[in-house]
Amino acid sequence: MVLNLHAMRNVLLNPEANQILVVDDEAPALKSLTHLLRKEGYTVKGCSSGQAALDELTRQDWDLIVTDLRMKGIDGLELLQRARDAYPELEVIVVTGHAAIDSAIKAMRRGAFDYLAKPYRLDEVRDVVRSALTVVGLKKENRLLKQRVAAFESGGTIITQDPLMLRLLDTARQIAPTGCNVVVSGESGTGKELLARFLHAHSDRPEGRFIGINCGAIQEDLLTNELFGHERGAFTGADQQTKGMIEQAHGGTLFLDEVTEMSPGMQVRLLRVLQERELYRVGGTTPIKVDVRVITATNRNLEEMVSTGGFRADLFYRLNVVNLELPPLRQRRDDIALLAYYFLRKSALAMGKALADIAPDALRLLNRYDFPGNVRELLNLIERGVALARGEMLQMTDLPENLQRLSVRVAGPSGELLTLEKNEASHIARVLELTAGNRNRTAEILGIDRVSLWRRIKRYGLEQDN
Ligand SMILES: Nc1ncnc2c1ncn2[C@@H]1O[C@H](COP(=O)(O)OP(=O)(O)OP(=O)(O)O)[C@@H](O)[C@H]1O
Ligand SMILES: [Mg+2]
Repeated sequence: MVLNLHAMRNVLLNPEANQILVVDDEAPALKSLTHLLRKEGYTVKGCSSGQAALDELTRQDWDLIVTDLRMKGIDGLELLQRARDAYPELEVIVVTGHAAIDSAIKAMRRGAFDYLAKPYRLDEVRDVVRSALTVVGLKKENRLLKQRVAAFESGGTIITQDPLMLRLLDTARQIAPTGCNVVVSGESGTGKELLARFLHAHSDRPEGRFIGINCGAIQEDLLTNELFGHERGAFTGADQQTKGMIEQAHGGTLFLDEVTEMSPGMQVRLLRVLQERELYRVGGTTPIKVDVRVITATNRNLEEMVSTGGFRADLFYRLNVVNLELPPLRQRRDDIALLAYYFLRKSALAMGKALADIAPDALRLLNRYDFPGNVRELLNLIERGVALARGEMLQMTDLPENLQRLSVRVAGPSGELLTLEKNEASHIARVLELTAGNRNRTAEILGIDRVSLWRRIKRYGLEQDN
């Protein structure tokens, strides 16, 4: 996939940085600065203590804090430190009393953007605030670009030449920007998560996050906590408010893997989020608006589960606006070689090996294999092979033994089917070769007596080789 950074830049929303928290425990000073910045057109909120500012930060995204240094309780320096630690994109300007240059320097060392010494001039405030917000805007834009690049990279390369898959990708590209919920089904390792990432990358908001969770891997109450987050004090040990995955996926994509493993209770809770477009954190009483696209993955037949009562029908209809079904690899055999070479190049590059080709017999073997683990199995197989390979070509012997045995069972050197007899003949020949023609040892290894071996050698015409 060609990545056109320039085009991507043009479709980016210009990130705005205009949200300012003003913090001062002296009411008149707080009021005048708040007023001044509002007149400049910024969104401004005043906080009368450091703690109030920290609370406000957890509620909403802020771009800039303008804080007085000397305050009761959490002072400006502490606020600066904690805010910058938790929100590195945010900038802080400190306001100092006159003759407090020492503390201004301290603040600068701890990462303040700049300081304003009282009494400050209006144009000075305007300039400093404007440059701080410009910096924040650039940081935001940089992050969005990075996310977009990452989204393209992780969702960009689905390798296929199979007509059915190509049609599926067309459909995926078409529905991706609509934001509708999608169920991706298919056997294990067919590329369900990859397709989900592809949908996200081609959506109308690829800069939003792609948050994935495997519903089958976690216990129910943990899953609730992971998905919905919790308020401070919701349970013992909940000493910090935490956003759940649904909330983190706000403005992006939530990928629910193995959705059929969700308990009935969890299904109800998820349904409610999809219907109301809001959620409550565990222990929370204020609804939080969420806007997420949900992509679910399953390797079971969801429709069948609905008809047998294992999955809620109403939830199914919400999730399954579009169903994309990935065919197993054995039903798109033309993809095997294509993917094998793709993975070969990737792994060789990653391992710094000059491996460029796959031996014909190894390739034939791959083409015959059924791949119960689908693309993931092929990927693992090639990665392992590349690690083992010595020359410039991946050999049959670099493939796992169970696969090599398959070759003895089903295929001769030129790919023709082997009868039991041919199989026996080649096996005897191999053992003879290994023992350098020693018939006693060969008979021993094969577990037959010398006479039977001699008869077979004659029957298969193996004697001239020894
Ligand atoms: N068409 C493809 N092109 C390139 N890489 C692929 C393709 N299909 C799958 N892969 C790769 O194969 C691996 C398995 O894919 P993925 O994790 O998406 O499968 P899955 O269906 O989610 O598997 P599971 O059911 O086990 O969770 C991943 O590393 C993925 O990048
Ligand atoms: Mg998966």
